[in-house]
Amino acid sequence: DKPLTVPALAEARAAGRRLAMLTAYDAGFARVLDANGTDIVLVGDSLGMVVQGHASTLPVDVDAMAYHVAAVARGLRRALLLADLPFQADATPERALDAATRLLQTGAGMVKLEGAGPHKLAAIRFLSAREIPVCAHLGLTPQSVLRFGGYKVQGREAAAAAQLRADALAVAEAGAALLVLECVPSALAGQITRASPVPTIGIGAGPHCDGQVLVLHDMLGLDSGHRRPKFVKDFLETGGSVAGAVRAYVAAVREGSFPGPGHAYD
Ligand code: KIV
Ligand code: NA
Repeated sequence: DKPLTVPALAEARAAGRRLAMLTAYDAGFARVLDANGTDIVLVGDSLGMVVQGHASTLPVDVDAMAYHVAAVARGLRRALLLADLPFQADATPERALDAATRLLQTGAGMVKLEGAGPHKLAAIRFLSAREIPVCAHLGLTPQSVLRFGGYKVQGREAAAAAQLRADALAVAEAGAALLVLECVPSALAGQITRASPVPTIGIGAGPHCDGQVLVLHDMLGLDSGHRRPKFVKDFLETGGSVAGAVRAYVAAVREGSFPGPGHAYD
């Protein structure tokens, strides 16, 4: 298979082909994900929690991201490598450009940043105008945990839902080519997906998105020390091996059997 490019994301959506995304933080798992059909491999700042053992993603810095991006890049042949801009690396467009440039030079093909506030839109616009593909991330944005007061479903009230619908259009207008929706009600994620000019990738966002993502450790059933969110499914149980779990996840995403009703919020 030839490498998956940024334009191929929109082509997949146009062809009605769902995108399967998973996180990875090292070359070994990246190789298994890549060999078993994963379209997008995300080096998420979730590494602060699942790899470094912190209680949130806030302690992750650009050095840590670059270290893991370099390792994951060595394990990939086909999948698109998406890398998170860590906490405050997108606080100004210039900082975002420095961080994103470093992650692209280390092996990423696209960077992701959370939110749609004025300076986030400015960062998306600034990067996109400088040949850096951007993925936006809305809904439960984990870097907002202090303001949210915890990890909670977003967009349940009418005003919050309207804001999310507007934000989804704004990030695409600013240049984002992909949009992650995290922990929002299924119906809202469906409305956003239908209105969005760019493909959506859901996590805890129901079955109507153009693709799905899970944290690798979650889909392998590793005990995180925290309560397992309802959108998580352990694919190792039925997959039988890490490669089998990835194949089962990719197949379930492609055919639309994951996420099921029990994995979604309303
Ligand atoms: O950091 C991460 O793993 C993420 C996904 C959960 C979307 O941002
Ligand atoms: Na993240």
